[in-house]
Amino acid sequence: MKKMKLAILGFGQRGYMYANIIKRYPEEMELGAVCEINPVKKPFIMNMYNVKEEDYYTDYRDMFKQGKIADILVISTMDQDHYDQAMAALDLGYDILLEKPIAAEIDHCIQIRDKANELGRKVAVCHVLRYTPFYQKIKDIVDAGKIGKIMTLSQTEHIGYYHYAHSYVRGNWRRAETSAPMILAKACHDLDIIRWLIGEQCEALSSFGNLSYFKQENAPAGSADYCYKCEVECPYNAIRFYNSHRDWFMIFSLDPDVDKVLRNEAISYGRCVYRSDNNVADHQVVNMLFAAGATASLTVTAFSNEIHRSIKIHGTKGEIEGDLEKMEIIVKRYGGEIEIIDVKALASDFSGHGGGDVKMVVDFVRNLREGKAISGLTDINNSIESHRMAFAAEASRRDRGKVIKL
Ligand SMILES: NC(=O)c1ccc[n+]([C@@H]2O[C@H](COP(=O)([O-])OP(=O)(O)OC[C@H]3O[C@@H](n4cnc5c(N)ncnc54)[C@H](O)[C@@H]3O)[C@@H](O)[C@H]2O)c1
Repeated sequence: MKKMKLAILGFGQRGYMYANIIKRYPEEMELGAVCEINPVKKPFIMNMYNVKEEDYYTDYRDMFKQGKIADILVISTMDQDHYDQAMAALDLGYDILLEKPIAAEIDHCIQIRDKANELGRKVAVCHVLRYTPFYQKIKDIVDAGKIGKIMTLSQTEHIGYYHYAHSYVRGNWRRAETSAPMILAKACHDLDIIRWLIGEQCEALSSFGNLSYFKQENAPAGSADYCYKCEVECPYNAIRFYNSHRDWFMIFSLDPDVDKVLRNEAISYGRCVYRSDNNVADHQVVNMLFAAGATASLTVTAFSNEIHRSIKIHGTKGEIEGDLEKMEIIVKRYGGEIEIIDVKALASDFSGHGGGDVKMVVDFVRNLREGKAISGLTDINNSIESHRMAFAAEASRRDRGKVIKL
């Protein structure tokens, strides 16, 4: 059995997760090269993952000058970098595991898809939710016709107040022009799931939403511009949050001293949430119309105590209710019995996005190794649809809910 060599471009939170998955399947895959721009990370990555000096790069152009040095390139850099890197990698002959969003502009997403198709390369977009036992079970129930034909679907993404503050007020995804609009960066997964379950093209949508809360005018009286200086009681206090959530802190700091790091005003993670330079929406709704008449709505909100996704599907013969974090699916057939499915009993590995991360990587690697068509679950030709919907939703939101035809 051929062992597949993977190169990782961008060794942050996601890159690290991919390296750990590769390590778990030593018979099937190996880490062939790493390219990470941040020099501070080099000793840790080289030691932890046995990467040789000659296989370690800090500039992707240097890595690409070597030609195709692995079977698969994982692109897990920031959103705005995906386009240049993916286009160049396709020219070199790589099949790619490409983090979502595909790119930060729809034209760029289409160009990557078209180039992959022209050159016969496989690009899997990391829409990991499709691989979770939770959504796979719901898809099976829908496809088996248990609730008839889907008429309405509503999904809510509860980002979590602290997750939103970390990523979208203080972190990398706080400004649309340096990352992507929130509906693309966060909710292209949800749009993808909705389209997949309904199984039809989205024909039109409209969207409302704003950055309503995390701005200067809502700052409490007497609050300061950085949490280390502030004496106001606040759920978004960064010092308290990162001291009690070290895993979130280590995402941006190799120095374990929370209080010292957050006194450094050059670091955005210690900022007052009302005085950051964020501009992405903190809540948004999208209403969708599908080809055969089904309707769907998506709510994405910063304002929730927990991070979780919930879904409700109404069909002609029954309904499904589910919560990804509770791992429970309830199926009600009209006039029939109620079935409660414990998703925890359906699989053994729920690490990383409810078990989706591992399954996606293994599926892509195995299918490529065996020369099969990739499963299609997250092939770029499918995933482009969620991106088209996300870009349209952002255009509609900016135009106060104007209906956009797709
Ligand atoms: N599939 C999912 O569910 C999911 C979840 C989170 C993030 N993402 C996406 O994954 C990507 C990475 O997110 P992350 O959370 O790992 O971010 P991150 O900031 O933790 O990691 C990005 C890494 O890339 C490195 N980098 C940046 N530019 C580079 C370059 N030119 N060459 C080499 N290295 C470079 C950075 O130094 C950093 O280590 C983003 O596009 C994000 O939207 C996807």
